[in-house]
Amino acid sequence: MALLPILCYPDPRLHKVAQPVQAVDERVRSLVDDMLETMYEASGIGLAATQVDVHLRLVVIDVSEQRNQPLVLINPEITWMSEERVKGEEGCLSVPGIYDGVERASAVKVKALDRHGKTQHVEAEGMLAICMQHEMDHLLGKVFVEYLSPLKQGRIKTKMVKAQKAER
Ligand code: NI
Repeated sequence: MALLPILCYPDPRLHKVAQPVQAVDERVRSLVDDMLETMYEASGIGLAATQVDVHLRLVVIDVSEQRNQPLVLINPEITWMSEERVKGEEGCLSVPGIYDGVERASAVKVKALDRHGKTQHVEAEGMLAICMQHEMDHLLGKVFVEYLSPLKQGRIKTKMVKAQKAER
């Protein structure tokens, strides 16, 4: 297993659209393991392959308190979303230190393959529903800050670029 570098906003590679996984083979399972390790190490609750510069439709999630309930979603598709919407505070491993409110469906149903290539149906509400929508946005090349006002987005971009320069 290995820790993978996480792309930071406003890296243009975060806006690439991910392609479907063709076969859930050992290579994909090894990527899943690396992504889980990377997510846990960074204390995140979700990570999309896009964030580690792999442009495949694959996300890992763990919203459990004990950090022992990994959820692997390969080629995920939302099959239903509630009309009811909620505004929750979101953050992202690709936008460290930034948290802001985003409105999303309060519940969703998602169809995806698991790490063995088996079809699974996941019904979610609360934090898991929000996390799944956030991670699936990454696969479409969308980062949560893009839901914020242009003014806020500009400020965040400036802050991120400055922080990345300081790190170098
Ligand atoms: Ni994110």
